[in-house]
Amino acid sequence: MLSGKRILLIVAGGIAAYKTLDLIRRLRERGAAVIPVVTRAAEQFVTPLSLSALAGEKVYRDLFDLTDEAEMGHIQLSRAADLVVVAPATADLMAKMAGGHADDLASTLLLATDTPVLVAPAMNVRMWQHPATRRNAEALRSDGVRFVGPNDGDMACGEYGPGRMTEVPEIVAAIEAALAGGPLRGKRIVVTSGPTHEPIDPVRYIANRSSGAQGAAVARALAGLGAGVVFVSGPAAVPPPAGTEVVRVETARQMLEAVEAALPADAAVFAAAVADWRVANAAGQKMKKDGAGAAPALEFAENPDILATVAGLAEGRPRLVVGFAAETEEIEANARAKRERKGCDWIVANDVSEATGIMGGAENEVMLISAEGAETWPRLSKDEVARRLAQRIAEALA
Ligand code: CTP
Repeated sequence: MLSGKRILLIVAGGIAAYKTLDLIRRLRERGAAVIPVVTRAAEQFVTPLSLSALAGEKVYRDLFDLTDEAEMGHIQLSRAADLVVVAPATADLMAKMAGGHADDLASTLLLATDTPVLVAPAMNVRMWQHPATRRNAEALRSDGVRFVGPNDGDMACGEYGPGRMTEVPEIVAAIEAALAGGPLRGKRIVVTSGPTHEPIDPVRYIANRSSGAQGAAVARALAGLGAGVVFVSGPAAVPPPAGTEVVRVETARQMLEAVEAALPADAAVFAAAVADWRVANAAGQKMKKDGAGAAPALEFAENPDILATVAGLAEGRPRLVVGFAAETEEIEANARAKRERKGCDWIVANDVSEATGIMGGAENEVMLISAEGAETWPRLSKDEVARRLAQRIAEALA
């Protein structure tokens, strides 16, 4: 997959740097050449000797190392790669990248490069959630930097949450996706997927039967054509597709927030089965039976419509906005009306009545509705529906 590719691997100073050693091995197994660059801080976590032994290459460490400058100027070093990967990417290095700093070799290479950049952030959960890091991540995204991770999990510092560097196989998949040629190369696409969970109290929620299979398949197909995909997923039954930037959410409101943070994008595909209502009087503590047989009275409030919100953006609307319509009757008429009402360009409509077995099943039978009219596709696997849709999206964005 990666044979003949040259990857400039920038290692910043984080505990996750130990995983980078394994990353180098996996990349070399796939035929890539890996040129390691370390920051000062990174050398506290991994030795240049281990990196160069595994990479089979010289490790670049210092901007003012004249030998390096003579052998290959930093400009050249940064451009002679097919992809620049930053793993782990610390909060500090991301801040430097976002601010355009160039005060050491790593930041200078990142500022001088004209090759695509993929970052695998790794930091403490509070640092990842800090508004400064959020701002920097957003700035980097709009500069075209791709992200893989971070994941949720236990941290070396004893806390739990997002900030852990993604595992090596996922980083490899993201590198393969970033290097994949394809008609969507350089395009950024946001995909929503899965159900949302709307809490009733801290242990109970309202949900729906969406497995997230169709959304995951669409994201995979888009990434397969070279797109940088931000995959915003509710609690789905299927794993998120490799090679995409996964953002996990629970509720509709969180999903809207995550989608807004992921913009700007060239296209957005809304495959999520978003709960239309949330419980307005959700309890802060677990609800108890009152002993007299009275059931709690739940009140509902309407959730924001994520598709309609994005489709209606006056500024920063993706060029192509695609919605899905889950209908149980009058599929075409309802879906056409939905397209108009929500202001999106296309609607992928399907019949989710129980007899079709589509919800939760492996197949789908859809109709693609656009301003030009309605097209009925045959019954296909969800993967095949996704591939056709991705192909059409590529044609529309070409
Ligand atoms: N959608 C959304 N946000 C919501 C509700 C729906 O983004 N709060 C998106 C879905 O992801 C899908 C499309 O809107 O792309 C249509 O969803 P669907 O459930 O079929 O439509 P509803 O808005 O629920 O319309 P209705 O209940 O009238 O069928």
